[in-house]
Amino acid sequence: MQTINHLNLLREAVADLRKSGRVALVPTMGALHFGHLTLMREARRHAEHVVASIFVNPRQFAAGEDLDAYPRQLAADQTALESEGVALLWAPTVEEMYPAGFATNVGVSGVSEGYCGAARPGHFDGVATVVLKLFNQVAPDVALFGEKDWQQLAVIRRMARDLDLTSPHVDAIIGVPTVREEDGLARSSRNAYLSAQERVEAASLSRAMRTAAAEIAGGAPIGEALARMEQAVLAGGFASVDYAQVCDADTLVPLATRGTGPARLLAAARIGKARLIDNIDVPLG
Ligand code: PAJ
Repeated sequence: MQTINHLNLLREAVADLRKSGRVALVPTMGALHFGHLTLMREARRHAEHVVASIFVNPRQFAAGEDLDAYPRQLAADQTALESEGVALLWAPTVEEMYPAGFATNVGVSGVSEGYCGAARPGHFDGVATVVLKLFNQVAPDVALFGEKDWQQLAVIRRMARDLDLTSPHVDAIIGVPTVREEDGLARSSRNAYLSAQERVEAASLSRAMRTAAAEIAGGAPIGEALARMEQAVLAGGFASVDYAQVCDADTLVPLATRGTGPARLLAAARIGKARLIDNIDVPLG
């Protein structure tokens, strides 16, 4: 596997790969865990060559967030990517990604605005801006993102439709189901912030979400199921719940009652130094 830090070299290397097949892009911020590696594996089912990127994107961290503390472990990540058969690692510096004078911002209205967008102002502009740059830099045939970050996936899909990034530029944006620990906790680089006790308590979030989704599918009023869910999460050891909402799976418009289209339960909650997010399908009853 080649690791590349300069855009001109990246373009040459991708052009080379393209001669012998399709190219899949998997953007990450590093500190890779089994969830990320599942994306790499899935990418290989969609293309002959996988390009991974590692870039801790300053524009998606607000002041006071964990940009400096965000785990960085390039050597271990390289080894993991190599063993997943990744052809090329794109690991630009901040100066390469945002040269002096950089002045463009990509904002996606609507889907960016509630949930994590409300709690983290500017976050999804930072994500959309860097993902659009990555699409332009790598020009992949397909790109893969985790359902773990459901709102992020919705923002990227909206941007791709709105800016005509779909076929033939990016043939498909593929969402990969959330990879979980045995007790249900969604894998996340931020789980590293949890103490041993918090790590055990953290499983209460996905447990309470599964219960709420099943109750709603069974006909329980959404508001009541969410209220019980919040109580269970707080009783389970979380300090606060940022949001817990059932919404249309694509537009993310909140639902007061379960309709007939795909619906998603989204939640974010704080425990210790970590803010954890999760989401699950709300099946039709
Ligand atoms: P990062 O948090 O490193 O995640 C990289 C990709 O891995 C994202 O698409 C994310 O949804 C996916 N992922 C993380 N944990 C997962 C899990 N448990 N199961 C399945 N997929 C999982 O998301 C970002 O980086 C950044 O915002 C990025 C898109 C790279 C833009 O900077």
